[in-house]
Formats: sequence, structure tokens, C-alpha cells
Amino acid sequence: MTPNIKPLIAGNWKMNGTSEQLPEIKVIAAGVSAATYDALICTPFTLIDRAARLCADTALHIGAEDCHANSSGAHTGDVSAPMIKDAGAHHIIVGHSERRTDHGETDQGVHEKAQAVQDADMTAIICIGETRQEREDGRANTVATSQIKGSIPPQSTATNTVIAYEPIWAIGTGLVPSNEDIASIHAHIRNELISLLGEEGAAMRILYGGSLKPGNAEEILAIQNVDGGLIGGASLKSADFLAICNAVKS
Ligand code: PGA
Repeated sequence: MTPNIKPLIAGNWKMNGTSEQLPEIKVIAAGVSAATYDALICTPFTLIDRAARLCADTALHIGAEDCHANSSGAHTGDVSAPMIKDAGAHHIIVGHSERRTDHGETDQGVHEKAQAVQDADMTAIICIGETRQEREDGRANTVATSQIKGSIPPQSTATNTVIAYEPIWAIGTGLVPSNEDIASIHAHIRNELISLLGEEGAAMRILYGGSLKPGNAEEILAIQNVDGGLIGGASLKSADFLAICNAVKS
């Protein structure tokens, strides 16, 4: 946590979920509280509209997991930020490591997508994080710095941008960095954000992601400069996601 920054607990459903899973959204929406944290579930495009309707008048926000960098045009199969907003979402994850790996997304491409999200008056959740090899080589901070410089548009503010630090080797593996390592890289990211964006960087949320679960949430969310979490597997079950929400200390 960082003083004066309201944590964000965000779920990333990835390529999971059909109408059968919508009741989970309803249970999450009924269980979250806006008093001490903001709550968000990013669903596949196909569920955004229905999930957003289910969450109307609740404290749960609905987001998307990717978008195209253009607002419209000849891009068969792609979906733009204004379209996603029209469907009822206000946040879009960009540059998740699975997109960087599966679709060859570069920092420059992520930068363009983040800008498209901001231009649509939405919030971009920009993901960064090192591979296992990069961490073993002692390059985690250097990688974070170059991803921050390459992926974050200069007009980013604490309102239109959230950073998610997700070490790739921790995603879906059950492996988690030590609390000291999380504290150290989040402090490094904070310093980089301040030098890039000044006061906006000081106020920007930095989420931790990668095997965040009910069992480790309380200690990870208490670490300085960890302003919430981006949660994959554990966001699919309402009980697990709500347990993580409840681990936020008021
Ligand atoms: P995980 O995924 O919580 O299943 O490790 C996190 C993410 O990829 O955002």
C-alpha cells in the first residue's frame, strides 16, 4: 500500500468464461465494497456487455483484456477502446505478458494501445514484468525500466493509467517473489514513474500480479508501493476473489 492511494483489486479472466460463469460476477458484485478499495473484473470481450449490466449500481467495475490501437477501421477481428467503452467497460489491460508472447506485442505497440485507451477517456492497465532468466541474470529492474520507458505514454496520469508488475515466471505457476523482492522492484518502479511523470507517477497505482491468492494476499498487499493486485486464476471463483478483496487493510 501507499499512503493516499486507494488500492485496486483487479481480476483478469483471460480466455475463460461463457454465460455460465456470469453468476460469479453477480456474487462478486454483491460482495465488494467501494469503501477501502476499487474492484474490477476484466472479462473476455464477449461477456463485457452482460457483465456490465449485471454490475450496474454496484461497486464492481468491468474491464477488457486488450484493444486495438485505432478507434475504428479495416482491422478484421479487432476491437477498439471506444467499442469497449460503449459495451460498458472503463478499464483495459494492455501489454499483458501473454499478449506480448502470443501476439508479439512490443513496448511501442503497447504504448499505442495505452494511448488509445487514454484517448477514449478510459483507464489503461499497463503490464510489465521480467522472465525467469532475466531475474536470474539480475536484470529485473533494468527490464522494468525499459518497459516503463517504452510502454507508458507521456500524458499518462494517475487517473488514466495503472501499472501492473507481473513477473512472467510467477503467472499461473504458484511461484511468487519474496516480499523483499516485491518491495524492492515496486520501489524501483515508483522511482521510475516519478522521474517520468512527476506527481502523477507518485500517485499512480502499481499492482502486483502473479499467483496472488487468498493465502498470500494479506502479506503482499501490505507491502509498500503495492497498490492492489492483478489476479488471474483466483479471480474466476467469487469466493477467492472476495477473500483477496477482504485482505485489503483499511
Ligand atoms: P495468475 O495470473 O494470478 O493466474 O498468476 C495473473 C495474470 O496473468 O494477470
